[in-house]
Amino acid sequence: MIIAVDGPTASGKGTIAKALAAHFGLPHLDTGLLYRAVGRQVELNGGDPDSPDDALAACDFADDLLGDPELRSEATGGLASRVSIHSVVRQALLDRQRDFASQPGGAVLDGRDIGTVIAPNADAKLFVTASIQARAERRWLEMQGRELDLELREIEADIAARDERDITRTDAPLRAAPDALVIDTSSLDRDSAIAAAIRAVENAVSARQ
Ligand code: DC
Repeated sequence: MIIAVDGPTASGKGTIAKALAAHFGLPHLDTGLLYRAVGRQVELNGGDPDSPDDALAACDFADDLLGDPELRSEATGGLASRVSIHSVVRQALLDRQRDFASQPGGAVLDGRDIGTVIAPNADAKLFVTASIQARAERRWLEMQGRELDLELREIEADIAARDERDITRTDAPLRAAPDALVIDTSSLDRDSAIAAAIRAVENAVSARQ
């Protein structure tokens, strides 16, 4: 069974994807981490994330980089969003994601274009979203004690800029697949969001049988 989980940053899609993987006993790939690794590698190379050539050169990052805690920072998230607009980067990361999705037994992948591009034949597709305010508050809480003291306003502005870039890029923009079930987590706590996602997957799978 292939489960595609898409949605904007800080919507809760990562938490939901991990919980679905544990519940259904499937391997999980956070595809955002691949774009974050490319963004970080461009920085380490001293390159320009807005240059397709520099970004493509960074796609051969070493696997060890995926464990770098710096990948989780807001700064690297911004770089990831910038390198992800280049078609050459999306192409370079395509096979790795498709191979993961098509492994025997299936998988859960989360990202922006899983249901639309990477695994359009997924058995279940979820689009997880939430208001910018709810997402900024979550990010802000997560950051306490971890990063620079960013104001809620700055985080909101950063999230809005990232949404804009992810939604308006021409190649594989962030959008719900027509057959995805939308889960708005703005007023759901973690457990209710996970329960809604498990129900949605079960319904999608039984509808296909
Ligand atoms: O999910 P995330 O915040 O870790 O993703 C970081 C950036 O990577 C996001 O702003 C856009 C890009 N991305 C993408 O273009 N396609 C994906 N499947 C996953 C992430």
